[in-house]
Amino acid sequence: MTDDPFLRLAPVVRLAPAKLNLTLAVLGKRRDGFHDLHSVAVPLGLADRLSVAPAAGAEDTLRVDGHDAGPTEDNLVLRAVSAARRAVGRGAATVPLAIRLEKRIPVAAGLGGGSSDAAAALDAALEAWQAPPDLVDRAAIAATLGSDVPFFLAGGSALLEGRGERATLLPDLTGQPLGVLLVTPPTALSTAVVFAAFDAAATAGSGSTRLTSEHLASEWRAGLSGRALLDRAGILAVANDLSAPANVLAPALLPLRRALTRLLHRSIGQTGSGPTLWALYPSLEEAEAAAAELHDAVETKRLPAIGESGPSIAATTILRREADHEEGSAR
Ligand code: C5P
Repeated sequence: MTDDPFLRLAPVVRLAPAKLNLTLAVLGKRRDGFHDLHSVAVPLGLADRLSVAPAAGAEDTLRVDGHDAGPTEDNLVLRAVSAARRAVGRGAATVPLAIRLEKRIPVAAGLGGGSSDAAAALDAALEAWQAPPDLVDRAAIAATLGSDVPFFLAGGSALLEGRGERATLLPDLTGQPLGVLLVTPPTALSTAVVFAAFDAAATAGSGSTRLTSEHLASEWRAGLSGRALLDRAGILAVANDLSAPANVLAPALLPLRRALTRLLHRSIGQTGSGPTLWALYPSLEEAEAAAAELHDAVETKRLPAIGESGPSIAATTILRREADHEEGSAR
């Protein structure tokens, strides 16, 4: 044991889950430029892995492996750690941190990976600094980092309102965890650009999306089984007001969606601002079998080619709140 506070700090490891919007209603544009939303979102087993340890130097450092997340200096993770340090002030010794991020979630794909990394970094930094639990308002810091970040701090399925930052937890789905198949074409879509295309189309969000979203939230609040959610997949798959602008910006998306519907005999939805498409399954095993079938369809060119790299295909599950989001801290 050493008295050096640097060396006494334990590395902290966090899993940063992806999210899936089962519904996404755009209610209208606000004066601040953001849009009011009504969305039911779930955290997924597919996750980035973040680890935080004391840095050797005087600055926070970030190393990113896996899916290319762009220049590290622009990464929301570093902004989250800086925001946490400012909020902590003199309340704890906020030593510089060496952060490692393994990106397993496709980037700019509608899966919220960057926001989830930021929430995980905020939480991990506070733990690494051993900041007293009530020292800072995590949700308030999260909301300054991005509209999606508070959802990831909430740590479960949630109803999202306001610009998305008002997350109200919903109970876990009952029964066997549902499987989710994710198909991400190699066309990054910026959230801001998709919202701008939504505005340019000058159509209001579909009232039926809002009704579907509100109905799902009220059913879910009363307690919903995974099976019942699966029965609603067809209606949920068309309950995303950002699908139409995403289809305009990424013209390959609609043919891909049609091909997936034909191949998988499932309702295919879009998460967030896209371009990731989803299908729900009764179990992880069935989602994995569908992923294997799709890999085969890509090889045999039964799926329309998009770009050179082909789509990224993943099978995962909807996470439950009681499931541990932490991988544990290595000491
Ligand atoms: O909050 P976040 O930084 O993730 O949002 C990225 C961009 O997406 C915003 O700058 C805004 O253009 C758009 N956006 C929006 N309405 C929301 C959320 C995001 O217009 N509710």
